[in-house]
Amino acid sequence: MPLIYLPDAEATQQWGKALGQVLKAGSVLLLSGDLGSGKTTLVQGIAMGLGVTDPVVSPTFTLINEYPEGRLPLYHLDLYRLSPQEAAELYLENYWLGLEVPLGIVAIEWAERLPYLPSNYLQLHLTHQADSSRKLAISIIGTDDFGIDNLTDCFLELEKT
Ligand SMILES: Nc1ncnc2c1ncn2[C@@H]1O[C@H](COP(=O)(O)OP(=O)(O)O)[C@@H](O)[C@H]1O
Ligand SMILES: [Mg+2]
Repeated sequence: MPLIYLPDAEATQQWGKALGQVLKAGSVLLLSGDLGSGKTTLVQGIAMGLGVTDPVVSPTFTLINEYPEGRLPLYHLDLYRLSPQEAAELYLENYWLGLEVPLGIVAIEWAERLPYLPSNYLQLHLTHQADSSRKLAISIIGTDDFGIDNLTDCFLELEKT
């Protein structure tokens, strides 16, 4: 599992931007980590990489923010306020299957609340460090490689296991 060191918020956005430039339609990113660990900051970078110009704000209260104007539509969700049962009732699979909405990138904060998971996704876990840096642990679940091999090489890699 690649572990990436992100010294400041800008590095987190830049890494997200690089990701947003390569991701394919239908990619699901499940983001976890404490409040303030940088999940929304990372999604802001992904939006930049997709060419979204609207400001990306936390969907904590709105649940879902949609940004249709980039290379691919971005669906940004935050399940913090939901129980797993409430999350189930949202039929979120419609987003990653592209049913009723155009297929795009689905980024979900507090994905721990999801009662079911897509068969293929990128798990991104952020951890606070003592200073303002963060560690980003990446796991690819399923068979798709999401094209991120090169990306991890671009950044200081602390560890590869
Ligand atoms: N290395 C870093 N990566 C991401 N955010 C950072 C970093 N260092 C400081 N920050 C700050 O921490 C906060 C992270 O907030 P946010 O992205 O909303 O977190 P979350 O969505 O996980 O609750 C922002 O104010 C951001 O500027
Ligand atoms: Mg957030």
